[in-house]
Amino acid sequence: RPDFKLAPSILSADFARLGEEVDNVLAAGADMVHFDVMDNHYVPNLTIGPMVCEALRKHGVTAPIDVHLMVKPVDRIISDFIEAGASYITFHPEASEHIDRSLQLIRDGGCQAGLVFNPATPLSYLDYVMDKIDMILLMSVNPGFGGQSFLPSTLGKLHEAKQRIEDSGRDIRLEVDGGVKVDNILEIARAGADTFVAGSAIFKAFSESDPNRYDSVVRAF
Ligand code: DX5
Ligand code: ZN
Repeated sequence: RPDFKLAPSILSADFARLGEEVDNVLAAGADMVHFDVMDNHYVPNLTIGPMVCEALRKHGVTAPIDVHLMVKPVDRIISDFIEAGASYITFHPEASEHIDRSLQLIRDGGCQAGLVFNPATPLSYLDYVMDKIDMILLMSVNPGFGGQSFLPSTLGKLHEAKQRIEDSGRDIRLEVDGGVKVDNILEIARAGADTFVAGSAIFKAFSESDPNRYDSVVRAF
């Protein structure tokens, strides 16, 4: 049985109470914090940067922080996230002029490196860099917003990515991001994913301000 990990996306958290939201979801059993970085250039939305990552570390978050860069260019911001306490740093290959160099920058900084594939981005970007990859992240929506529906074409792509990981013989996480819900996570896991991002399904599941409200939804996952 793979070592399954749940990575709530704080994109859907209440930013005015971010530290508390992250504490609650981790206390409820989540494994890592998915941190969506959008620049209003590579994707049509603007979110949070390294200062917020650093603030979460200062707040006392010790769980892995899984930084998903939706920015272009990527290299300049990589070193800032290494300094800010990121654990994983993933980026979209189309957004980097020099993919191998960006991966190497992440690894040289002591972080785990990964590539993110949009629904229509081919996995062939992996061909010459598998030895520098710790995570493959498949987008199951077009990036930019939470709350979209899971694209079923991701299932076949997960099988293909899983095969590439097996062929490499390396320990590489296979993460899926977008539209993951309690009622579709089983077929996503069966397709080969071991790491699940869920934003709206977790943070928008409850409207009332009950500090324990994430327990039941995280358990359901
Ligand atoms: C989308 C982000 C996702 C997003 C997922 O560009 O990368 O991490 O927060 O949100 P849900 O789970 O609501 O689809
Ligand atoms: Zn993401």
